[in-house]
Amino acid sequence: MYIVYTAGLGWRQGVEGRQMIIELPNSQATQALGRSLGEQLPTGSVLLLKGDLGSGKTTLVQGLGAGLGVEDIDSPTFTLINEYTKGRVPLYHIDLYRLSAAETNGLYLETYWEGIEVEPGIVAIEWSERLTHLPPEPIELALSYSTRGRRADLKIPTSLDLELGI
Ligand SMILES: Nc1ncnc2c1ncn2[C@@H]1O[C@H](COP(=O)(O)OP(=O)(O)OP(=O)(O)O)[C@@H](O)[C@H]1O
Ligand SMILES: [Mg+2]
Repeated sequence: MYIVYTAGLGWRQGVEGRQMIIELPNSQATQALGRSLGEQLPTGSVLLLKGDLGSGKTTLVQGLGAGLGVEDIDSPTFTLINEYTKGRVPLYHIDLYRLSAAETNGLYLETYWEGIEVEPGIVAIEWSERLTHLPPEPIELALSYSTRGRRADLKIPTSLDLELGI
């Protein structure tokens, strides 16, 4: 359980991690947040993306890819999983929009964060609400519409040190 805070500046310490509310006035801001995460997230990080249709999840992952040194990130809505291996660490971009929970279960997505069968990397999952198995220490990023573009609610584990230069 995280303690819930109203929008404010900087990190707020909760029981299991830290939380920050970030205003994203345009898509460049969404990309910049993603880029900052891509530059800093350690190998093995799993980013659980949530948010309505068009809230900016793919835009965020495009920034994430830029921060990792990967270009040309497409939406994996039809491919389900895109793997990018040319960056600082591999990026696995997953979109569960078209899947039921049973179908999601059958994909054994745990292999992407267990680091045994799949080379460890950074995993970003759109429509992560549909996951049936959760990673142990996820980074949660919920995007929502706001009067000034979008708002991000970012929750990170205490073990992660992030300096978001935005
Ligand atoms: N902070 C923002 N302010 C305004 N528009 C934004 C912002 N971030 C992204 N957008 C725009 O919102 C639109 C939808 O973005 P995107 O495709 O990333 O959403 P999505 O959450 O991945 O959608 P889907 O649920 O269909 O996968 C794009 O045109 C993008 O440029
Ligand atoms: Mg998308």
